[in-house]
Amino acid sequence: MTTADSTYAPTETGRPADADWWRTAVIYQIYPRSFADADGDGTGDLPGITARLDHLADLGVDALWLSPFYPSPQRDGGYDVADYRAVDPMYGTLADFDALLARAHELDIRVIVDLVPNHCSDQHVAFRAALTAAPGSDERALFHFRDGRGPDGSLPPNDWTSMFEGPAWTRITEADGTPGQWYLHLFDPGQPDWNWDNPAVREDFETTLRFWLDRGADGFRVDVCDALVKAPGLPDWPRPTHGVIEPVDGVMPPMWDQEGIHEIFRTWRRLLDTYDGRRILCAEAWLPPERAARIIRPDEMHQAFNFRFLETPWQADGLRAVIDESLAANDAVGAPTTWVLSNHDVMRHASRFGYDGPVELEHGVGADDPQPDRPLGLRRARAATALMLALPGSAYLYQGEELGLPEATELPDTARQDPVWERSGHRIRGRDGCRVPLPWTEDGPAFGFGANPDTWLPQPSDYGSYAAAAQRDHPGSTLRLYRRLLELRRSYRLGTGNLRWLQSPHRVLHCANGSIEVMTNLGPAPVPLPPAAHVLAASAPATDHVPADTTVWFTRT
Ligand code: GLC
Repeated sequence: MTTADSTYAPTETGRPADADWWRTAVIYQIYPRSFADADGDGTGDLPGITARLDHLADLGVDALWLSPFYPSPQRDGGYDVADYRAVDPMYGTLADFDALLARAHELDIRVIVDLVPNHCSDQHVAFRAALTAAPGSDERALFHFRDGRGPDGSLPPNDWTSMFEGPAWTRITEADGTPGQWYLHLFDPGQPDWNWDNPAVREDFETTLRFWLDRGADGFRVDVCDALVKAPGLPDWPRPTHGVIEPVDGVMPPMWDQEGIHEIFRTWRRLLDTYDGRRILCAEAWLPPERAARIIRPDEMHQAFNFRFLETPWQADGLRAVIDESLAANDAVGAPTTWVLSNHDVMRHASRFGYDGPVELEHGVGADDPQPDRPLGLRRARAATALMLALPGSAYLYQGEELGLPEATELPDTARQDPVWERSGHRIRGRDGCRVPLPWTEDGPAFGFGANPDTWLPQPSDYGSYAAAAQRDHPGSTLRLYRRLLELRRSYRLGTGNLRWLQSPHRVLHCANGSIEVMTNLGPAPVPLPPAAHVLAASAPATDHVPADTTVWFTRT
């Protein structure tokens, strides 16, 4: 059970006071490369997004979050930023960004942009200057440059591994042609880590924050924010960098969740609050709920992604436990709990739930791998979303999930772009399968994504059957289900509500949020609805029973 933060007062309309919009917001993630292509080059762009904003207004979301659209060599899908205060020509211009923002605001949709502060691109002007500058120079001090170990410095400075496999260090060649120092990159070698102990780095990011806030951005999603500060001396950590980020014998891994991150977030919060009190920061940190909650204490960020929820398989006890844990951890700091099932880094939930048991979220699926059970996956995905959207707090949706879009599990390996595919020696396929351009129409070039049928990642030939146009007027469609759930969520004020668990049979979740009751059946047999139930929405046809793998929202008459 949870209670709303006592400082938080809903207005008479049931919508939160404007300054608190984010406490209940449904935020839709756009991956710009794959949303809509206006100029026909096979890659999505900002004008393409603007032209399709009506889709988001119809869906009924409160905000959108744009994954990076900044100049980038695209070594990691734009999370390798070469210039934080510009638009990549492949996506358009700053004027296109302004137009997108203006149209979104007209539609009452807020716009959150991605801030990538842990690392930049190796093409960033500051890193290029560091490469040609001398060891010990101010230019190098913006990053983590170190001499190598061993008599000739040919071994990495410490044993850290990259999130994309292999060492987290790359050795450079000095200006005089000799083998030189090493630089740290927790991700791809094309993504050097900034040195956040350096005040110049902090100042530059404050300039970037102001740049987008001045243009009217409503906030930032902050990429791997828990990695900014590294333990002093960069000590060895003879364990993987990747995986569950938890203390080992009371010690946090030296690259994650160091105490120093909080001061940075406090500074940013003060900066945002000098605007109109309506701009927000959302933390991307794959931490357990109680650690993530420390980032959203009242003077730090506003909300954090709830990845524990996303990681939980389709299993009643596990889901109930993670819901309770999440609410408790966030209530303790007065922050809203957020919910998320899909994003650009993980297998889409319509496919994930088509496997029995847990899956490797970021490993991808190849044509020769076991394929998910598609109808089952979609059925469970719809039920999971219906459960998620009934929960109090804020929720994140990932583009295409409102279409029930499955992961592209048969992409040709030659088309893969995720750096992990090469770095793992073709062992891990990576995240391309959830990043394929969206289908908007049943036929036509690229299923309405754009005029060019040759899209940057190939679309599966059956993607047209998931097109938005095919679903809009189809009563049982996933798109119509999402619209209905969002409409009810708003009118019944579920975002501000309290969750109460009710007694239920084994493998069934039954809860109430205000006057709405929700039953999710994760077992094999149908379970009866209470006799006086009046069904408001259901993830699969339901009258007096909740079928297997189905969620039903109802009131009592
Ligand atoms: C975040 C992004 C992911 C990216 C990584 C490095 O986890 O969501 O796409 O690869 O950070 O920036």
